[in-house]
Amino acid sequence: MTDTATEAKRGAFSSRTVFIMAAIGSAVGLGNIWRFPYVAYEGGGGAFVIPYIVALVVAGLPFLLFDYALGHRFRGSAPLAFARLRRWAEGIGWWQVAICVAIAVYYAAVIAWAVSYTGFSVTQAWGDDPEGFLMQEFLQVADGVSFAVVPGVLVPLAAVWLVTIVIMALGVQQGVGRTAVIFIPLLMVAFGALVVQALLLPGAATGLDALFTPDWSALLVPGVWGAALGQIFFSLSVGFGIMITYSSYVGRKTDMSGSGLVVGLSNSGFELLAGIGVFAALGFLAQAQGVEVTEVVASGIGLAFIVFPTIISQAPVGGLLGVLFFGSLVLAGITSLISVLEVVISAVRDKFELTRVRATLIVTVPAAAVSLVFFSTASGLSVLDIVDHFVNQYGILLAAVVSTLAVAWGARALPELAAHHNKQGSVRLGRWWNVLIGGVVPVGLTVVLVQQLITDLREPYEGYPLWMLAVFGWGIAVASLVFGLIAGRTRWRAGTQVDGYEPDRVPEEAA
Ligand code: PHE
Repeated sequence: MTDTATEAKRGAFSSRTVFIMAAIGSAVGLGNIWRFPYVAYEGGGGAFVIPYIVALVVAGLPFLLFDYALGHRFRGSAPLAFARLRRWAEGIGWWQVAICVAIAVYYAAVIAWAVSYTGFSVTQAWGDDPEGFLMQEFLQVADGVSFAVVPGVLVPLAAVWLVTIVIMALGVQQGVGRTAVIFIPLLMVAFGALVVQALLLPGAATGLDALFTPDWSALLVPGVWGAALGQIFFSLSVGFGIMITYSSYVGRKTDMSGSGLVVGLSNSGFELLAGIGVFAALGFLAQAQGVEVTEVVASGIGLAFIVFPTIISQAPVGGLLGVLFFGSLVLAGITSLISVLEVVISAVRDKFELTRVRATLIVTVPAAAVSLVFFSTASGLSVLDIVDHFVNQYGILLAAVVSTLAVAWGARALPELAAHHNKQGSVRLGRWWNVLIGGVVPVGLTVVLVQQLITDLREPYEGYPLWMLAVFGWGIAVASLVFGLIAGRTRWRAGTQVDGYEPDRVPEEAA
């Protein structure tokens, strides 16, 4: 049997621990550090724990096991796994591949900024105007569109891509796996130290009060439940092919449902830790400026690159705080970036007979080129913001809805996937799992999507010019879907078993 997509050739993680580390590496990312604390604060503080846990248990963890089952049973990248399930479903996998390309291109830019800011922390290069420094001196943001090159971004961005390309070229175990095994413990140490330092700052307790004081009325706001669901999906890295790809690299006898619990709980644990660290620091800032915590909270780029520099300038031993914070962003970011790139490389390798190095170069060199062209120029910031918003909403969430509906109702394959987990998993998936994946999850996600769609149609996102939203927002979201539909209809190499694939027949080299 010459199945050219066999395990030995595709690469594999050397152990369950490496897989778990890589999966945690993907899940723990910028979303945990700069998104979760704000979402939790806005969503009722201490009361947010309820929608959060409900979303985790009812949607996040079940969906994680859904992704795992597809990848582990059908032993392929997203397109191959879907194609082996049902040939018509392959396009969903390619759609996810396209989404991952879009994410990789801008995610690398944020990591590059964090690299620069790790250095800036030492000298506090932003002086007493972090916002002006970020916009004018560092990013040199222009009004409208300008393709003037900003060397201060170009150099670190090129470096991030270079490191990433080397990691990807080294392969599944030596590159992706080993990076996670080194970076994740480092991240825990660095971030743990950051949290301790933040807790020792004067005013830290005020920040924690602000974060944890429950506002129970928030539970009556539907948007809060939607925010919890959106946060869980983004944070766990489910629904865009990553977990399908990673679990295809895991030995057939591995307990996948138990691994899923470890990954899911570690990710949420890190989120909680980040909430504590970020709000302790915000409490300090509020006290130092004599204002309420509400006045200083922020998320995303504003939190990391404007508010944190302000804190660093005012805190005792601020330079250390800055190195720990931005260093953590870099570590967490790289392990997430490599996970999205692995989705693409794995798919290209499965579809075409390519060596690891060749597939890596074919994928990463154009991605790096696009990334450098867009994000080391003066219009990078708005493009990044738009792509991020639209890809998350209309890429990840929509693809997640379509994949559950296709597998649950189109292919009616949930019992098969549950049985796969139950062969060796430590968590038994009963009918409840089918109900969640086939009903509760798609319905819940659709409600969130429709809410968001109404908002985006009513008013242009963040007031950006319509043509920019059309090109970088709607354009990329629609293009990735169209790409998926087309790529899903292309032929497979003669050597790859797609139609006749028998998941329960263990090929010789894997036995
Ligand atoms: N789980 C990641 C996070 O929390 C989401 C992500 C993964 C984003 C990979 C991009 C790439 O940040």
